Amino acid sequence: MRPYIIINCAMSIDGKIALPGKKQARISSEEDMARVHKLRSKVDAVLVGIGTILTDDPKLTVKKEYVRKAKNPIRIILDSHFKIPQNAKVLEPNARTIVVTTEKEYKRGLLEVIKCGNGDKVDIKKLMKLLSERGIKKILVEGGSTTIWEFLKNRLFDEFHVYIAPIVIGGDAPTPAAGEGIKTIENAIRLHLFAIERYGDGLLLKFIPER
Ligand SMILES: NC(=O)c1ccc[n+]([C@@H]2O[C@H](COP(=O)([O-])OP(=O)(O)OC[C@H]3O[C@@H](n4cnc5c(N)ncnc54)[C@H](OP(=O)(O)O)[C@@H]3O)[C@@H](O)[C@H]2O)c1
Repeated sequence: MRPYIIINCAMSIDGKIALPGKKQARISSEEDMARVHKLRSKVDAVLVGIGTILTDDPKLTVKKEYVRKAKNPIRIILDSHFKIPQNAKVLEPNARTIVVTTEKEYKRGLLEVIKCGNGDKVDIKKLMKLLSERGIKKILVEGGSTTIWEFLKNRLFDEFHVYIAPIVIGGDAPTPAAGEGIKTIENAIRLHLFAIERYGDGLLLKFIPER
């Protein structure tokens, strides 16, 4: 058993999800931001890797300007060695946060630090089972590249939403999937396109995994 998993990211026409050097950039249009916040309010949890916390410092809450009756999902951070800065915005007590490590466990207020490791990395398969046992039914994976790759590689997703913004970034900027990549095209992670939606001047492509 695992939760229903939606992966979401926003990229430029040339397939970049940030600026060169992993510097954060807002790629989504206003219309796409509204869509993402509505999606957040419909899931039980949102998940990102520690890389995204260190580069972007997101809040991962639902903004009232996009969703009137905002319901914040639980925020889940993959952080094997507990590198999360104490002043990270996801630690502000406006929603529950679970930091998943390989090292320590404790609970303080709305913050829960749990151990779910496999060697020196968080075991995402085990984590999904654990979240399901805790009643988390739907989860939104919001990045970054390394995290998205791990979920795609392990076929741990039910939908993959890619928003394409009408901008070009160029250079050595991150793409939706990092990691070690595939070695031969036969091993490509194959998807089926099931919807195309327009948001402002951008396009949202929705995929499901090929069974
Ligand atoms: N445009 C978008 O939609 C969007 C959204 C989010 C982020 N971003 C961009 O993405 C970039 C950050 O991506 P990133 O690849 O550097 O970092 P990331 O995917 O956010 O975090 C990766 C880190 O998570 C930790 N981790 C622990 N267990 C893991 C596991 N099983 N699988 C994967 N990760 C695990 C690892 O660090 P430890 O070993 O220390 O645990 C790993 O290095 C930034 O440039 C950010 O701006 C873009």
